[in-house]
Amino acid sequence: MDNGLLKTPPMGWMAWERFRCDIDCKDDPENCIREDLFRDMADRLVEDGWKELGYEYVIIDDCWMSMLRDEHGRLQPDPFRFPGGIAKLARYIHDRGLKLGIYADMGTHTCMGFPGTTLDTINIDAQTFASWGVDYLKFDGCSSNPIEQMLGYPLMSKALNATGRPMAYSCSWPVYVGGLPPKVNYSLLGDICHLWRNYVDIQDSWDSVQGIVEWFSNNQDDLQPAAGPGRWNDPDMLIIGNFGLSVDQARAQMALWAIMAAPLIMSNDLRNLDNSARFILQNKVAVAINQDSMGIQGRRLLQEKNHIEVYWRPLSHSASALVFLSRRTDMPSLYHTSLAKLKYDTGNYEAYDVFTGSTVTGLNATTQFTLSINPSGVVMWYLGIYADMGTHTCMGFPG
Ligand code: DGJ
Repeated sequence: MDNGLLKTPPMGWMAWERFRCDIDCKDDPENCIREDLFRDMADRLVEDGWKELGYEYVIIDDCWMSMLRDEHGRLQPDPFRFPGGIAKLARYIHDRGLKLGIYADMGTHTCMGFPGTTLDTINIDAQTFASWGVDYLKFDGCSSNPIEQMLGYPLMSKALNATGRPMAYSCSWPVYVGGLPPKVNYSLLGDICHLWRNYVDIQDSWDSVQGIVEWFSNNQDDLQPAAGPGRWNDPDMLIIGNFGLSVDQARAQMALWAIMAAPLIMSNDLRNLDNSARFILQNKVAVAINQDSMGIQGRRLLQEKNHIEVYWRPLSHSASALVFLSRRTDMPSLYHTSLAKLKYDTGNYEAYDVFTGSTVTGLNATTQFTLSINPSGVVMWYLGIYADMGTHTCMGFPG
C-alpha cells in the first residue's frame, strides 16, 4: 500500500512460531500469551540493541482475545491474561519507541477458534484497533470462503485507512487461495496491503526453511515483481534462536530473507537467546541489505548440479548482494566460479563477506575464485563497484 508506511520491509518480533497458542498461564506463566510476554519482549528489544537496528514492531498473534465480544460488539482481550487491556500495552510499547501489532482473522473464527472478523464487523474492529493505538494488523484468513476473502481484505484496507491512524496491514489472503496468479492478483494486493503471506506457515526446522525458499524461488517470476517499497512478500517469521536450526542454517535463513526483501520478524525468546543467534540477527550488513532503499526483491540466479544455488539482489549505489547456498548436508562444498559466470558486467569489484567480515578486493568479472560453503550453509557477499584512484588498491592490487 502506498501511504508512506513500510518503505522497507518491517522488522520486529511476533509471538506465533515460538509461543503458539499457549494460554496456560497457571502452569507456564513465563511463556503463555499474556501482556507480560509482550512487555518482556519490548524491554528486550530496547535494552539489547534490537531497536537501534530497526527491530521495532512487537506483534501479538492469535489467542489474545476473549471468547466474547463486549456489549458494544467490540473485540476484547482475555481479561485474565491482558488485565490492563490493549491500549495500556500499546502505551507501554510506544513509550519505549516501539510499535504494536495485533492479530485478527477474516472469517467467523481465528485459526485457534477465537472470535473472527466477519464482513459486518470489519469497520468496528478497525476502529477498535485504532482507538487502542495499534500500529500493525496481521489479518489471517481461517474460517472464511474465497468470496468473503475477496470482499473482506479490501474492505479492511479501507476501514483501516478510514480510521485516520496509520497502520501497517499484513494480509494472509494469498495463502488461503494458493499463493499464485491467476487466483492471487498481486497488483491489487500491492494496492491494498503492505505485506502478505504467500505460502505455508514456517516451522522450527531446516526442512521448513528450505521448503519455503524453494517455493518462493520456483515461483519468483510471479512473486518477485510484486514486491517494492510499501508492498512486500512475506515468507514468514525468522526462527533463528529457537531449537531447529544449526548456526549455518540460521545464517542461511538470515541471508535468504535479506535477499528476498522479506520482513525480518523474529519469533524466538529474546529473554533466552544464545550469542550466535544474536550475532546473526544483529548482523548490520545483512540487515542493511534487507532494508535497501530500492526495495527490489532478489532472485535465485542459478541451481548447479552439485547442490549449490546462487541468489542475487541488486542494491542501491550500484552494489549488490550474492548468496551462495549449499544444500549438501554431509560436508563443505567447494564452488569455483567468477562474477562473469554470475552475469556481472566488466568492472572492478570488492566483496565483503557478510558473516566472516573478510574482504576480497581486486576482483574483476573474469577473476576465478573458489568458495568453501558449509553444509546447509551460505557464503554471503556484499559487492561494491571498486574504483580506486591510487596506484594500488588497499590490498596491493593494481589501482
Ligand atoms: C495461521 C497463520 O499463518 C500463522 O502465522 C498464525 O497466525 C496462525 N494462523 C494463528 O492461528
